[in-house]
Amino acid sequence: MMGWRCPFKLGDGSLNPDLRNRLEQSRQGETLKRWEGLSEGDKKGLENQLLGIDFAQAFGLFLGQGNAAGAPPLNALKAPTIQTGPAQEKFLNMGVKALRTGEVAVMVVAGGQATRLGTTKPKGIWPITPVRNHSLFHLHAEKVLALSQRHGKAIPLLIMTSPSTHDESLAHFEENHFFGLAPGQARFFQQGIMPAMDLNTGQLLFEQPHRVFTAPDGHGGSLAALKASGLAQELWRQGIRHLFYFQVDNPLVRIADPVFLGQHLDANAEISCKVIEKTRPGEKIGIFAEVAGKCHLIEYSDLPGDLAEKRTPDGKLLVRAGNPAIHLFNLEFLLQILEQGSALPFHVARKKVSHVNLQGEWIVPQSENALKFERFIFDLFLSASRWLLVETAREEEFAPLKNAEGEDSPETARAAQNRLFHTWLTRAGAKVANFDPSRGSPDLEICPFFALDEKELADHLPKGISLTAPALIDKKTVR
Ligand code: UTP
Repeated sequence: MMGWRCPFKLGDGSLNPDLRNRLEQSRQGETLKRWEGLSEGDKKGLENQLLGIDFAQAFGLFLGQGNAAGAPPLNALKAPTIQTGPAQEKFLNMGVKALRTGEVAVMVVAGGQATRLGTTKPKGIWPITPVRNHSLFHLHAEKVLALSQRHGKAIPLLIMTSPSTHDESLAHFEENHFFGLAPGQARFFQQGIMPAMDLNTGQLLFEQPHRVFTAPDGHGGSLAALKASGLAQELWRQGIRHLFYFQVDNPLVRIADPVFLGQHLDANAEISCKVIEKTRPGEKIGIFAEVAGKCHLIEYSDLPGDLAEKRTPDGKLLVRAGNPAIHLFNLEFLLQILEQGSALPFHVARKKVSHVNLQGEWIVPQSENALKFERFIFDLFLSASRWLLVETAREEEFAPLKNAEGEDSPETARAAQNRLFHTWLTRAGAKVANFDPSRGSPDLEICPFFALDEKELADHLPKGISLTAPALIDKKTVR
């Protein structure tokens, strides 16, 4: 009897048969056609890339099957209960205790492509602080370090990157000696990717003749990435019980805010979220709502115009619980979710994706030509039975860097920092000459090592001090 013979020769340029099979099942005829025309080296490169891409998942979503997020339950929306009122001493003490006993870690999601900002570099390395011009990463790391010093415990900083942002983000930390963080305090982990598909044909799109176009799989990819990296389990073994989550593009974020922590602990919440008031119907911000006892987040693009415009008798928007993406997760709850599979559903969006067609021509589409697939962290909220929303003031905690100019731009993010620092300074009794609050300039900056919040500033600032903007308030300039 003749022995079994492999139908292809390893290393002879044949396509891995299992991969071919899967491509055929997902009807990726164009990819197979492209394959035939490639050099041996490019074939190898494409094969390696395809082995790491879940094109079957993407094709299922293209067909309207698979793990896709459902339509938002717009008819059943209820305004959610939001905790308001002044910070209570009790909450502050509870939060401080959790920080002192080392129960808290911090996670920043920094894997996005910053398309609207128009940079090819990671957003985290964008210079953002008004006077020192420190990057977003530098600022966040300083806040974590200052908080660690304040509470006598090194707070772990988890940084989620993507293949688009990883190398440069890590290099930025390395070149700057991790901004003074203790060895091992900053931990990088990478999220996954998803391909885009032609809107009409469900074929993979290519960014080079031998390279499939892919994009990070959304900030919700952080769950699968936490699981794959083993970091969530590691944190648990280390004694961490709560994870503070925020987005890299918000310079005003109060990292691991002790009062927020205390509120979260007091409520025994699985998930807690800060909320800011949406004031303009057209503002591009997600909205919290309650549906059948669960916490839902409605994307701005899913909110119908008439509902977005509706106002209450006092003139406020009816649907106004805006999401600044500042959350606290109970780690035990998170681990249970990860145990169950960690796969949040995909949101399918129609986008413009430039690509190389079968003839090798570079196509820049004039209208949406592709489907992109992303997971969003807020779909996790639906799994929580104990959740808490806490109101905060936008000017104190949210000034995202999204666009190159106009709204949510470098200019507005700087002005927002200047205004907040000006408010802290004047409330602490300082006289600040030459500052125009309406323009939010000239620049003011309070170094996190001098003060992380208004109270700390009031404690450290010499009484009756006079300053002239622009000014930097740090341990060297103010004694
Ligand atoms: P955005 O949705 O604002 O995306 O992300 P972006 O990449 O910053 O900007 P655009 O949309 O391309 O212009 C909000 C936060 O979620 C992170 C981003 O890094 C940012 O902190 N994010 C987004 C990820 O970590 N991974 C993703 O796949 C997407």
